[in-house]
Formats: sequence, C-alpha cells, structure tokens
Amino acid sequence: MVPKKPHALLLWMLVCSGGSTEAIEPISTSIAVGMAAALTGFLATYPNIFYYFNECCRPEWISLNKTGLKVDLDRKLYGQHIASRIILKAVSGFMSNDNPKKPLVLSLHGWTGTGKNFVSQLIADNVYKEGMDSSFVHIFTSELHFPHASQLETYKSQLQQWIKGNVTNCAHSMFIFDEMDKMHPGLIDSIKPYLDYYDKLDGVSYRKAIFIFLSNAGGESITQTALDFWKAGRDREEIELKDLETLLSLAVFNNKKSGLWHTSLIDKNLVDFFVPFLPLEYRHVLQCAMAEMIARGHQPDPSVADQVARDVVYFPKTERVFAVKGCKTIESKLDYYI
Ligand SMILES: Nc1ncnc2c1ncn2[C@@H]1O[C@H](COP(=O)(O)OP(=O)(O)OP(=O)(O)O)[C@@H](O)[C@H]1O
Ligand SMILES: [Mg+2]
Repeated sequence: MVPKKPHALLLWMLVCSGGSTEAIEPISTSIAVGMAAALTGFLATYPNIFYYFNECCRPEWISLNKTGLKVDLDRKLYGQHIASRIILKAVSGFMSNDNPKKPLVLSLHGWTGTGKNFVSQLIADNVYKEGMDSSFVHIFTSELHFPHASQLETYKSQLQQWIKGNVTNCAHSMFIFDEMDKMHPGLIDSIKPYLDYYDKLDGVSYRKAIFIFLSNAGGESITQTALDFWKAGRDREEIELKDLETLLSLAVFNNKKSGLWHTSLIDKNLVDFFVPFLPLEYRHVLQCAMAEMIARGHQPDPSVADQVARDVVYFPKTERVFAVKGCKTIESKLDYYI
C-alpha cells in the first residue's frame, strides 16, 4: 500500500526505511517534499517499486528460504549433523507459524571454531534478503557492547530499550548475543520478559523475534561425549541430541561463566533449543580448507588442504582427534600454502 500524498509518502519512506533513516535526515524538508511529489506519479504507476530498493520489514525482504537453508546446512556446514537438524526444524517451524506463542530462542554451544557464528550467518542469509547486513539483524558482543561490569544496570536498561525499539520497528527482528560466556547473567535475565509467553508487553509483541545465544559453555562436556564415542569405535553420526541435551543444559546452568548461570531463562524453559556443536576432526578441517580455496576463486587442491589440515593442532594430546581451534584459523593459515 503506497500513500498518495507527498507528506504521507515521506513519512512512509521514513518508517519503511527502518535503520536507514539517518541517510534521509540531512535533506531539508522542502527538498524531500519536492522529491516526494516527483516520486508520487511514478509510484502511482509502480506501486510496489520502492520495496525493491529499500529494505523494509515486509515479506519481500524477510521470509524463510527453507530449501536455501537446508542446502546451506547440508553443503556448507561440516560435521554438525545434530545442530543442522535442530536448526532447520526450529527455524522452519517457527517461520511457518503465523502466530507463534513466544519468540524463537536458540542457545548454541560448543568448542571454539565449530561453526556457531557461521550458522547464525546461514540463518540470517536465508531469512533476510540482506543477510547479516540487514538492518533487522542485531549482534551484541559482551566485550564491545557491555565491557564494564560496574555499568550493569545501565546496560540492562539500554538493552531493554534497544530490543523494544527494534521489535517495535520490525517484529521479525533477529538478535544474536555472541560471547555469552563473558556476559553477566543478570544482563540476559533482564530481557527475560521479552522471551516469555506474553501476548504483548507495553503494547509490543515480541513473539515473532528470533534470539540466538552463542557460547563455548558446555563445550567440554560435548567434547567428552564425542571422545567417548570415538574411543568406543562408534560413528560420530550416531551421537544423538539426547546423548547431550541434559548434560548440556546442566553444564550451562551450573557454569558461572556461561552467561546463563542460574538464569530464569533456563528455569522457566524459555530457551527452545540447546544446540550442541561437536568438535571438528581432521576430515572437517580438510573440508574447510577446500571450501576456503573455492571461496577465493582458486581451484581446490586436496594436497594443499591436506597440508593445512595436518599442520593444525589436535587434542587430546595422545589421541589427537579434535582440532584445537576448529576451522577458525584456516582462512588465515591458507595464505601460507597457496
Ligand atoms: N562446522 C563448520 N563447517 C564449515 N565451516 C566452519 C565450521 N566451523 C567453522 N567454520 C569456518 O570457520 C570460521 C570460524 O567459525 P565460527 O566463527 O563460526 O566459530 P565459532 O563456533 O563461533 O567459534 P568461537 O566459539 O571461537 O566463537 C567460519 O567462518 C567458517 O568459515
Ligand atoms: Mg563465535
């Protein structure tokens, strides 16, 4: 629906542009009104044209590409059969529900460099046309956004206002909390009402938003389970969510440094899915190196990938099964080999 009057059009442009209002501010009202008048005739002919150029909180810009997400998870994410399955199910179930009872809350856990940020990006890429660059996707990092423990109370109210403002602007907003292990649990507790089964809070409904928490908490217990399977000569793919789930939520709840330590988010079952990320093995590091070569436009060379993967450090010391840094340093390491 396109407003017909110039002033209404301008207002609509400002509302629809969401995060990009700053770009419009410097233009004086008279010029803007003039521009709007000129545009009106054009828009009367092509009523939806503006949606195609300016990101809006509309299905043209926000809708799940389920096949795309499945293909990405199958082809680009290595060694994470459990995470892959949960994420596809959780995101597609949530996005296909027009009336969810609460926002989707995912808590991603695992060893470093196993794909937690990477998966968040795959989700964003397949929900928002602009992917991680979307003005409806927001990332919080403890060290960047909440560095001083003494300012916890300020951070709490800022975070609440920030989330409220963004969800008011677009119900389908996504919030990623990185480095949860370094966050004060009180901070996350302060947004608990937004994650709960409320119809509306102060006139705002949070039920269509997605919250993703990333942390290394629980990584050790996941790794121990993966190692037990390996030692027993069992296939990694035999590991099931039930082998990890209870262990994981306990490890997170009881870990003072998990960011979710004794938070009511866990008490009240507000986290919909605890998603375990398994530690990566030699063969996965190999795949990461091959993918990185392709991403750089090189012919993928298995012998180079093998060299890169062999030079990575593995643990435990005796068995040398899992990559200490996962696939995290492959991108920079590859520079030495090609
Ligand atoms: N399972 C994986 N499959 C494919 N690529 C991966 C995987 N894990 C990591 N990578 C690659 O390594 C890079 C770093 O991984 P990512 O940042 O997602 O790790 P992380 O789990 O968030 O680690 P940390 O806990 O240290 O933050 C990714 O951008 C991706 O290129
Ligand atoms: Mg990360």
